[in-house]
Amino acid sequence: MPDQHLTFVHMTDLHVNAPGMEDDMLFNDTSATLRRTLAEIARMEERPAFIIASGDLTNHGEPESYRALKTIIEEAALGIPVIYALGNHDAREGFAEVFAELHDDPSKPFDHDRIIDGLHVIVLESAVPGEIGGYWEQGQIDWLKSRLADQPELPKLLVMHHAPNLDPEVTDMEWESLSVAATEELRATIAGANVVGILSGHIHLDRVSNWYGVPVIVGIGHHAGTDAVALPGEFNMLDATGFAFCTLRPSGLTVTYVQHPQTREVRHRLDMNEILAHIAAQKANAAE
Ligand SMILES: [Fe+2]
Repeated sequence: MPDQHLTFVHMTDLHVNAPGMEDDMLFNDTSATLRRTLAEIARMEERPAFIIASGDLTNHGEPESYRALKTIIEEAALGIPVIYALGNHDAREGFAEVFAELHDDPSKPFDHDRIIDGLHVIVLESAVPGEIGGYWEQGQIDWLKSRLADQPELPKLLVMHHAPNLDPEVTDMEWESLSVAATEELRATIAGANVVGILSGHIHLDRVSNWYGVPVIVGIGHHAGTDAVALPGEFNMLDATGFAFCTLRPSGLTVTYVQHPQTREVRHRLDMNEILAHIAAQKANAAE
């Protein structure tokens, strides 16, 4: 645990598109939103040690969009390391083409770790191509075990686009999270390790859970916030974005959410029946 405290930023679901790209499924100028977050970080009183970007870095995963992301980060010139994770909107090929210095083999999940100021940051790719929900590929849990065993005295911060599943009995909602099976594998793997928190995105909601004693932090992200108080069956995406900064003290993790100006107007309505039909079709295909 750091002696005093360590501050870092959590941003998620950036959904950046290449400039000028037409996209019916983008409900916000996500490049401008990213610039806004970076400008806010620049004026933070305590300079963060690093920035986490926990997946859905782009809206569709083309190299041009990763190039746009890289340019925005470079132009901000914060001089703060950005630690990337991939989400279900990302594409390993596109990411690897532009960020080859970070990941040059798109046949493998983008799992990586790094120690910064005494905190061991472990990033796992929870997204599987073609799926909305999160799963582990073969070898990822073994890799996580090896990372947790490395310098076990150091606190571990896990980053994964999909947060653990909180309601295993609700069988048609696995697309919102890690699958039930992947969640159980994660729980068994980190039991007893000094995991100070899990940072995630995916559901476009500011949400904090105590998951078997581990804080699971989800951010609303930069695209369109989920309407947390919608009626059953409604799924509204709102004009609502933001980021968070986190402080790790000897006592544990604090997360402070920073909202961007927002109207909470509905930008898009998703049809829950369509989502559930899509998930059911995926399950049927998988079972064949
Ligand atoms: Fe997203």
